Amino acid sequence: MTADPVVTLERVSREYRQGEATVHALRDVSLALRRNELSVVRGRSGSGKTTLLNMIGGLDRPSAGRVEVDGVEVSSLTGDALVDFRRRTVGFVFQGFGLIPILSAAENVEIPLRLRRLEPTERSARARELLHLVDLSHRAHHRPQELSGGEQQRVAIARALANEPPLLIADEPTAQLDSRRAEAIMGVLRQLVATQGVSVVVATHDPLLFGMADRAVELRDGEVVADSGSSRAASLEAAAAPG
Ligand SMILES: Nc1ncnc2c1ncn2[C@@H]1O[C@H](COP(=O)(O)OP(=O)(O)O)[C@@H](O)[C@H]1O
Ligand SMILES: [Mg+2]
Repeated sequence: MTADPVVTLERVSREYRQGEATVHALRDVSLALRRNELSVVRGRSGSGKTTLLNMIGGLDRPSAGRVEVDGVEVSSLTGDALVDFRRRTVGFVFQGFGLIPILSAAENVEIPLRLRRLEPTERSARARELLHLVDLSHRAHHRPQELSGGEQQRVAIARALANEPPLLIADEPTAQLDSRRAEAIMGVLRQLVATQGVSVVVATHDPLLFGMADRAVELRDGEVVADSGSSRAASLEAAAAPG
């Protein structure tokens, strides 16, 4: 059985006008990411990683081409459908964590659940469960400033998972962390792929982290210049193939 990809890009380009000049942030990128994998998008600063992730997350639109996520053509969504997509289909994790300083870890995780109007008891039970997933149960009532960078990022990951999105998108999630904490965050993401059935796409330029992924796609000047494919999924497919 070949599962359908969680993300498909077909000949995606994105150009930005800068005065007289045109910046080609992505050039004719075609890519399919398999479900239930940890994929890394690597490349130097300016290579197009954020642009690619923003296309996948419905935060930006291609100038040309097509983006499909979890069976939905993101590049054609507008209005409520786009808001709904960003809320339910993708979870976002950013470099700067993006936690609200006056709220505790648990309250930060509850924010997306409030938007869904869950009952308070259900909400706090779910937040506890999510913090447990990222191994932060003991920090539930601390505010961000009382947490290390690595802990703050784990809260942000828990929050991104609140609505059980099939896809987690993380843009340089470890850029503000030392290498030990960066590896720990990648370990958490790996664990989530293994246990929660979520697919994860991480942009990073940290070579330490490439090896922890199932798949590494390298961008240079907006083009895919290397793609490890996926040995794990490829061998699973080979094993499942008849004869
Ligand atoms: N809003 C924008 N306006 C103009 N140029 C942009 C914009 N966003 C990104 N770019 C340019 O597109 C290229 C790719 O940027 P980006 O996707 O942010 O790369 P990365 O995340 O790999 O550092 C860069 O040359 C950047 O300057
Ligand atoms: Mg970037």
